[in-house]
Amino acid sequence: MKIIIINGPNLNLLGKREPEVYGNASFEEYFNTLQEKYPNIELDYFQSNIEGELIDKLHEVGFDHNGIILNAAAYTHTSVGIGDAIKAIETPVIEVHISNVHAREEFRHQSYIAPNAKGIIIGLGLKGYELALQALLS
Ligand code: DQA
Repeated sequence: MKIIIINGPNLNLLGKREPEVYGNASFEEYFNTLQEKYPNIELDYFQSNIEGELIDKLHEVGFDHNGIILNAAAYTHTSVGIGDAIKAIETPVIEVHISNVHAREEFRHQSYIAPNAKGIIIGLGLKGYELALQALLS
C-alpha cells in the first residue's frame, strides 16, 4: 500500500505560520507520528511552493500509488492546472484543509481540486490527514 501526502505552498512553515489558524506543530513532527502509527503503509511526503512541481509530482505518483492526500493550500483556489492533473491521473485523491476554509474569506470557498476528489476533509486540523489516510485504507 503506497500513499503520499502532498502539501502545497507555505505549508513548509506549519508550526511557525499563523499558529492561531494552523496550530503549533510542524508537519515533519506530525508526519513522523503518522509513519510510526501506520508502519505497514509506505507513506511518502512531498511539499513544494511551486505549482509546476506539484503537478509533476501528481503525474509521477498518479499511476502507481494507491492514494494521494492533497492539501494544495492556496493553489486549491486558483490552479486549473492542478485540477486538470487530478483529472488526468488514476490514483484517488483526498483533498484536505487544516482550517475550515468555508469559515474564512470568500476566495477560499472555491476549489479546483474538489470536483475530481474522492472526498474532502476540511477544518479538523492536522488530524484531517490521518482521517484521509483511514478513508483510503477502508
Ligand atoms: C489551507 C487553506 C488555504 O486557503 C490556505 O491558502 C492554506 C492552507 C488549509 O490547510 O487550511 O495555505 O489549505
